[in-house]
Amino acid sequence: MDRKRCRELFDGYVEAYDPQIIEIKLKIDHTYRVAEIAERIAAAAGADTDLAWMLGMFHDIARFEQFTKYGTFKDAVSVDHAELGADILFKTDDSFRGIFGENAAVAETAIRLHNKLDLPEELDEGTLIYCNILRDADKIDIFRVINEPPYDERNRLIASMASPASEEVMDCVLKHRCVPRPLIHNKFEALIGQCCMGFELVYPESIIIAKEQGYLGRLLGLDIRESTMKEQLGKLRTEILREWKIKGISD
Ligand SMILES: [Fe+2]
Repeated sequence: MDRKRCRELFDGYVEAYDPQIIEIKLKIDHTYRVAEIAERIAAAAGADTDLAWMLGMFHDIARFEQFTKYGTFKDAVSVDHAELGADILFKTDDSFRGIFGENAAVAETAIRLHNKLDLPEELDEGTLIYCNILRDADKIDIFRVINEPPYDERNRLIASMASPASEEVMDCVLKHRCVPRPLIHNKFEALIGQCCMGFELVYPESIIIAKEQGYLGRLLGLDIRESTMKEQLGKLRTEILREWKIKGISD
């Protein structure tokens, strides 16, 4: 696999979008970081590091079109960016499909499924590995993104407001599950939902990277004034550490 060619393809595609726009820049940075993280997870898991890196490079290719057309990254009110991305890569343009070579089918599935709440049960082992590597890498870098502008401002706001999470949201915490979008009704619940992605990291190496980077830890340690919210965030931290211990990584 030719990484230089991959970078050229990615840069060539993104050239049509303005990197002065903060959201566009954000997704370019996210892409390179996810590629790097996916490669590291793949190395630890004994998987194909080139394929993992490429999945990172192209998984969010539709974000640029999505933001330009709809002005949002919210799939629910615009377009499913994973489906659109897979269509751009594998249905419309031969130059993208070509670089994945014999791995095109696995790559298409991994990219299509990277944003779904759950993976379908019938995936074969060879495909499942790359779905999980990409999803882990994406989640790890999302923890970074939600520590940075404009989310840092939102996090400061959450720390000073009084809007505890619902029982249904806290039930997801207790079950170590991601929070389904319809359950999220305020900024604090959105933060809880984002942190719950920590439960779903599959590979021990992913947990090690997340811990090393410290972004999730920073969110879970947010200095919240309101007592119920403080307790809820503390509970979430305890449960995530419990889940990580189950997966072999202790504090
Ligand atoms: Fe994505």
